[in-house]
Amino acid sequence: MRDRASRKRLLVGALRHYTGDTLFQRIARAVCRAECVPRKELHESWEVARRVRRRLRGTRVVDLACGHGLVAQIMAILYPDVREVVAVDRRIPASAERVAATMAETWPWLADRVRRERADLGRFPLTADDVVVSAHACGRLTDLVLERAAEARAAVAVLPCCSVHSKLDDGALSGWMDTDLAIDATRVLALRARGYDVWTQTIPGDITPKNRLLIGRPAERAPGAQEGGRRV
Ligand SMILES: C[S@@+](CC[C@H](N)C(=O)[O-])C[C@H]1O[C@@H](n2cnc3c(N)ncnc32)[C@H](O)[C@@H]1O
Repeated sequence: MRDRASRKRLLVGALRHYTGDTLFQRIARAVCRAECVPRKELHESWEVARRVRRRLRGTRVVDLACGHGLVAQIMAILYPDVREVVAVDRRIPASAERVAATMAETWPWLADRVRRERADLGRFPLTADDVVVSAHACGRLTDLVLERAAEARAAVAVLPCCSVHSKLDDGALSGWMDTDLAIDATRVLALRARGYDVWTQTIPGDITPKNRLLIGRPAERAPGAQEGGRRV
């Protein structure tokens, strides 16, 4: 697929590009039928969700600052055993309903599994059993997601977005590296200081230059941690 960074909405005319039988292709067809999601966001959501699925486990998935909620929908497919998936945004756009409707045409059980909730992510209650995910929560909002998850001892993954440099902590590293990178590196160190195991990954750069994926899990939830095999 060419130009995965395209901000043009996928429409039914694009169905001809997604005729295969893979899970991604089936999701892409549902997204085309919704006619409201930019191509870039299809690829971002897929690349984030499948990487998070390899690392994190929980009984509930919470997509904070969900926008159209595609990450939540894909996570629900990739985590069929969770109790529920909640897509949270302070303003749930109409596109979220359209995406949910066309996804449920292919996976009818998603309609009961994914709940959309209009709420401020600063107040949405989280628990230690949650997998918290947030794609492109703008600027300081990413830090709020990390703080809220760490307070609850929840597993967390963020794909940081645009940064207003003057308002974000660069850990005094900007003299040595790009400021956005310094800010993300400082986020990693802050999460580790709170007792998290952290994985730093990237999604393909041809989809978005804001492609750093930070995944964290409380060290006490690592396999074997309860038996004293890891950090306490
Ligand atoms: C750039 S969009 C990202 C949407 C989606 N996660 C994605 O990857 O396409 C940022 C979203 O954050 C939401 N938002 C901003 N402040 C928020 C807050 N305090 N609580 C909940 N959602 C918030 C906005 O409404 C918007 O939908």
